[in-house]
Amino acid sequence: MADSKHRRPIIIANWKLNGTQAFVSDLLTGIHQQWGGVHKAEVVVCPAHVHLAQAANEALAYSNVAVGAQDCSQFEEGAYTGDVSAEMLHDLGCQYVIVGHSERRRFHHESDAQIARKFDLVHQAVMTPILCVGESPEQRQAGKTLAVIKRQVTAAIEGCGIEKMARCIVAYEPLWAVGTGITATPEQAQEVHEFIRTLLGDIGQCVRIVYGGSVKPDSAQTLFAMPDIDGALVGKAALDADSFIQICRAAE
Ligand code: PGA
Repeated sequence: MADSKHRRPIIIANWKLNGTQAFVSDLLTGIHQQWGGVHKAEVVVCPAHVHLAQAANEALAYSNVAVGAQDCSQFEEGAYTGDVSAEMLHDLGCQYVIVGHSERRRFHHESDAQIARKFDLVHQAVMTPILCVGESPEQRQAGKTLAVIKRQVTAAIEGCGIEKMARCIVAYEPLWAVGTGITATPEQAQEVHEFIRTLLGDIGQCVRIVYGGSVKPDSAQTLFAMPDIDGALVGKAALDADSFIQICRAAE
C-alpha cells in the first residue's frame, strides 16, 4: 500500500447522554490545558444537543478542538417535534455530525435508509458526517461481519452517491465492543477497516476510517499503528480529560 498514513488522524469524543453544563465546562478546560497549540491529530467533541451551544462557544475559543453533534433529524424543517436539524447544528458551530450510531440503530430503530438521509442532510449543511457501521456479536459469530458492513456502507453510497462519501468519516464500531469494555484486537479492526476502504473504491485512500468500541489509553497505540486505522471514536474514556488526551497523544 502507498503511504497509508497521509490521512490526518482524528479522535472524536462521543459524550453520549452524560454531563451538565458544569461538567462540559470542566472537561473542555481539562482538554484545553493538555492540548494547547498545533497538533497532528484533529480533536472533536460531541456533547448532547443541549450542551452544543456552550461547547461550541468554549471549544471554538480554543480553536484546535472542533464540535460535533451525536445525531440530527432526518427532516430538514417543519412539524417534527423534538427534532434538531442539520442546518440548526451548523448554525450553532458544529462541523461534524455522527449518523447511524449503533445506539440510535438499536434504541430508535433507525434504518439504513434513514441514516443515508441524515448523511445527505449533514452534507447539505456543509458539515462532515461520521457514519457508524458495525456488526452484532451474533453476526460476527456467524461469520457475517463483512456482509453486514458491506450492507451498511453500500446503503450510504447508494443513498448519497460515492462523491459525497469522499467527505465523510467512517467509524467502525462493532456492537460487541461498544460500551462493553472489550476492545477489538488491532488485527480484527484492521481487517474491517481495510475492507471498508476497498468498498469505497478510488476515494478510499482519502477517507478517514476510525475505530470505536471501548478504546482506552492502553489500547490506543497498537490500534493506531495499523495501516487503515486513522483514529478513534471514544465513548467512556472520553469522559475524563486525562484519559482522552492520552488517546489523542497516541494518535500523534
Ligand atoms: P465506548 O463508546 O468507547 O464507551 O465503547 C464508543 C462509542 O459508542 O462511540
